[in-house]
Amino acid sequence: MTARSIASAPLRNTFGVDARAGRLIETDDADDLPGLFAGELAGASPLVVGSGSNLLIVEGPALALALTSNTIRILASHDGHAIVRADAGTQWHAFVLWTLEQGLAGLENLALIPGTVGAAPIQNIGAYGVEVGERIHAVEVFERATGAFQRFDAAACAFAYRDSVFKHALDRYLITAVEFALPQAAALPSSALRLDYAGIREELAVMGMAAMGIDAPDARTVAEAVIRLRRRKLPDPAVVGNAGSFFKNPIVPLAQAEALLAAHPRLPVFRGAGDDSRKLSAAWLIDACGWKGRRSEEGSGDAAVSAQHALVLVNHGRATGAELLALARRIAEDVQARFGVAIEPEPRLIGARW
Ligand code: FAD
Ligand code: EPU
Repeated sequence: MTARSIASAPLRNTFGVDARAGRLIETDDADDLPGLFAGELAGASPLVVGSGSNLLIVEGPALALALTSNTIRILASHDGHAIVRADAGTQWHAFVLWTLEQGLAGLENLALIPGTVGAAPIQNIGAYGVEVGERIHAVEVFERATGAFQRFDAAACAFAYRDSVFKHALDRYLITAVEFALPQAAALPSSALRLDYAGIREELAVMGMAAMGIDAPDARTVAEAVIRLRRRKLPDPAVVGNAGSFFKNPIVPLAQAEALLAAHPRLPVFRGAGDDSRKLSAAWLIDACGWKGRRSEEGSGDAAVSAQHALVLVNHGRATGAELLALARRIAEDVQARFGVAIEPEPRLIGARW
């Protein structure tokens, strides 16, 4: 199709913040991009949007661009593995279910994460002990400045916790498609499934005892357990606006983690980026400061910390992006003052800086 251009377009975002783009350009064909960036978008820096599930919009952008193409193809299949390619506009969870239906494993722990395939590599989405970078074969991009298409293999993507090369080049690359290397579920022993994240084995046990009668789980059963856990733990954006975890879990030097653990023995501490660092639970730090379930007293009073999960900021209805950001700043100040730890937002802030 030719690209559609919509003036003063509402910008979808799971926070449910009222926001518009001065102009939104939508295309379902990545081959439109060279023409767009040589013409209508020449010299412009449009905000690329997927499903808006990791955005906090304080002020709407002048220009936004959405890639809606959603074709999925199996490119190759051999030696118990398949290479699967999905266009950027494919919905992530629908894609995970599709791979499972094809008898492919590898993405089961990442079930029910909102958003698009194109956004998944940006912050290297992760959940329940798996990060998407571990399953990515290559990322296909369009480079805005040169108008050229390129392909990054997994090593070139520099994936790390909630990080990638693309996150540091948001105005440079547009992700057009992602290729995944996935094992055939039938060729995968149960022992290769990732079941160690807190809650998974317990959920599988409950499911087995309650109805399913399954002793050795398969990838589809693990996906089901993850879906059940997520539905219980996280507020549903269709019910109350949110962007999932609002803060990243902070990574601190080992010595600082040990000192904090000595003072607060219940603080959850996980392995960090290497032997000399540790990842702390931001939810626990925020909870310990008494923020869980608290509403902001400013403005509409609808910006709040979820009563279900301390790491999730919610919009009870009329909260603006600025109110949610003000609340986030107060929380981060408290955590800094009480524990000496800096926490940083995970969602991208639009129209404001942290
Ligand atoms: P958007 O929010 O639209 O955009 C996010 C960023 O990606 C922006 O910087 C945007 O410019 C950029 N972008 C989007 N598409 C492209 C593209 N094609 N090319 C270049 N840049 C692009 N995240 C996790 O990692 N783990 C979780 O468990 C998790 N749980 C969540 C639960 C809930 C309830 C919610 C609301 C969010 C959760 N998230 C989680 C965050 C979110 O789902 C992911 O970050 C997701 O990848 C965002 O996808 P999106 O399409 O909505 O991207
Ligand atoms: N906890 C509290 N209070 C709470 C909630 C949690 O103290 O209200 C403590 C508990 O001790 C719990 C620990 O925090 O054991 C960790 O909680 P959880 O397992 O929910 O994980 P998380 O660190 O809060 C991370 C990701 C999530 C991902 C889950 C599951 C980040 C920033 N968040 O949350 O990702 O789904 O693990 O793997 O890394 C997202 O990025 O948007 C997101 C939801």
